[in-house]
Amino acid sequence: MNLSSETLAEIEAAIPKYPEARSAVMPLLHAIQQDQGYLSNEAAEWVAKKLGIEPINVLSVITFYPFFRQQPIGKRHVRVCRTLSCAMAGGSKVCDTMLKEFDTELNGVSPDGEVTVEFAECLASCGSAPVMLVDDELYENLDEAKAAEICQKIKAEA
Ligand code: FES
Repeated sequence: MNLSSETLAEIEAAIPKYPEARSAVMPLLHAIQQDQGYLSNEAAEWVAKKLGIEPINVLSVITFYPFFRQQPIGKRHVRVCRTLSCAMAGGSKVCDTMLKEFDTELNGVSPDGEVTVEFAECLASCGSAPVMLVDDELYENLDEAKAAEICQKIKAEA
């Protein structure tokens, strides 16, 4: 595994926090996904070896939680909330705008490799629905026009 020195340090610091090494599987997976963008089979095997468990135990965690990804994503990660408040306030139209602007499909990678658009569950900002995250930045009170503006901003930054 080609992990950054910061990620390796984070991993080494996480394991002793748990009474059993195997309990550190979640923080290790988060750290690796943050570093690599997704969790490959190689990553699952590496974590299993590190924690002294079987790769299938790691894979079962990866496949259970929707926030773990098994495929690479674009350089920019767009997550549009689809939970009730956002769904009722037009979250789907916002998502459709993002997909159209980047000429991509839900959960895919845009042809230029820049963007992945996904749905997300409640982003804890229901009062300003609909909302979306672009990487770690939250955008609120969206509509199709605002979504298109954000797309132009992302394209300009590419
Ligand atoms: S429903 Fe979208 S932020 Fe809560």
